[in-house]
Amino acid sequence: MKKKGLFITFEGPDGSGKTTQMKILSDYLKNLGFDVVTTIEPGGTKIGRKIREILLDKENHDISPGAETLLFLASRAELVSEVIAPALKEGKIVLCDRFFDSTVVYQGIARGLGEKEILKMNLWATGGVVPDITFLLSVKVSKGKKRMYAADKKTDRIELEKDSFKEKIYRGYLDIAKKNKGRIVVIDGEGSIGNISEEIKNRVRAYLEKKR
Ligand code: ADP
Ligand code: TYD
Repeated sequence: MKKKGLFITFEGPDGSGKTTQMKILSDYLKNLGFDVVTTIEPGGTKIGRKIREILLDKENHDISPGAETLLFLASRAELVSEVIAPALKEGKIVLCDRFFDSTVVYQGIARGLGEKEILKMNLWATGGVVPDITFLLSVKVSKGKKRMYAADKKTDRIELEKDSFKEKIYRGYLDIAKKNKGRIVVIDGEGSIGNISEEIKNRVRAYLEKKR
């Protein structure tokens, strides 16, 4: 596919500030006159929302890791073909709350299904669509928990996982960031909302200027 737009994803553990930062960046880019599409994973399409319900339902605590992975991939394949690829083709900026790095880290590393295998399956599911920039909001497990508690956020099936699982996620993200230095930008997610958003805006501005 010929890609004209810009594809930016936000990654990090639950409560790391992805939703907050995506909204700030979206408003900023829209103010500059860019055509911006925002979306989330899992979800983002009619079918994706149905899959999301299955995935986050606490009653499905016994879902097999394989089925869990394939459902995330099914939701992603739908999102790419329905929303992301068409928008990029039209030259829009697409901002996505989580993408395939989440599956590589949560299912591949933390659930132990294999980083390389999961990445390969993802590239198949997305037809090779890879983000141009990925912001990894790095927040320690204890800090993320405090934030979720303070925000009184409803916990879903995956957020109920043990701290050892969350530690694997924290370390897994930093590990894949090291292997993808050209794409994944690690941001200290424990800084202030304003400082983080300035850093993100600067990075995106620099990228757009280079591209021009
Ligand atoms: P995520 O989408 O990664 O789960 P959210 O953006 O929903 O995270 O943020 C989770 C909670 O933490 C919200 O109450 C939000 O207001 C708060 N929050 C987000 N970023 C920061 C930050 N840098 N410092 C302090 N609190 C933050
Ligand atoms: P969500 O509410 O979207 O995350 P957040 O609270 O960070 O905004 O919940 C999605 C949950 O699913 C989250 O715990 C991460 C997990 N997840 C995976 O395990 N694999 C994946 O591929 C994706 C996209 C999410």
